[in-house]
Amino acid sequence: MALEDPVRGAASEALALRYGVDTPGEILWNDTIAGLLAHRSVRVFRPDALPERTIETLVAAAQSAASSSNLQLWSVVAVSDVARKQQLSVLAGGQKHIAEAPTILLWIADLARGRHVANEADEPHEGFDYFESFTVAAIDAALAAQNAVVAAESLGLGTVYIGAMRNRPAEVAEVIGLPPSAVVAFGLVVGFEDAERPAAVKPRLPQSVVLHRERYDLYSQGAGIASYDETARAFQASQGQPEVGWRALLINRGRGASSLHGRERLKDVLRTLGFPLR
Ligand SMILES: Cc1cc2nc3c(=O)[nH]c(=O)nc-3n(C[C@H](O)[C@H](O)[C@H](O)COP(=O)(O)O)c2cc1C
Repeated sequence: MALEDPVRGAASEALALRYGVDTPGEILWNDTIAGLLAHRSVRVFRPDALPERTIETLVAAAQSAASSSNLQLWSVVAVSDVARKQQLSVLAGGQKHIAEAPTILLWIADLARGRHVANEADEPHEGFDYFESFTVAAIDAALAAQNAVVAAESLGLGTVYIGAMRNRPAEVAEVIGLPPSAVVAFGLVVGFEDAERPAAVKPRLPQSVVLHRERYDLYSQGAGIASYDETARAFQASQGQPEVGWRALLINRGRGASSLHGRERLKDVLRTLGFPLR
């Protein structure tokens, strides 16, 4: 009997965790792809500080992401101060991992620098008033942060994004002294996972749902979504979570403003923070 190819074995194991039953079959494989497929959000951290040079390393990885027109319309604020992390934890609806982990990186959609540079040159900066500029800044920040996630995981660190930093963006801006036209797009908690309570790889939708060839098809997705609902239920059961499936999560999020935790006011708040969003 032929022994199983260890590389293929690793790939199919990783795909089974990522998709449950509906795996895409074989994929190409290397260490980078293995690292990406093993991603898990970590929410239980040891209090240990990050090793020296970690933040600089993550930021170098982040800055290596592509940036729209190389404008680099993002910044990052690293917060490790215990009291400040506690404030941020409260502002994010009491997410305790923010207080417990050694550091949270706050990713800023930053049009302040552009306005400042233009002001110093006595030039207009009306282009930064447009919704498009905010969108570019938010995309740039997200691409940068995801590179930091990949770098952190490659170093044996765990991370979790904190979209709840947008629940109360004006207060968050105050805590870290942001100027007008700069806002925290999201946070990223970084630290060492508590090995006693490890997070699991969370399955994703089958590729039959998300991958379209040449033209998008909304109506072919039902079977894959139904199958994923079962996969999500099984995953939730394995984690001791309520077995609600995935459709219910999606429907609840879309139901109304109350599921947005304050973020339903985001556009208005952004306008007060120096983003006219024209
Ligand atoms: C932009 C963004 C914001 C998020 N915000 C939060 C958050 O506020 N709190 C949290 O615990 N997880 C947050 N997450 C983590 C997601 O819940 C998580 O990525 C998702 O459930 C998939 O799980 P996985 O990352 O372990 O694969 C966020 C993720 C993203 C991408």
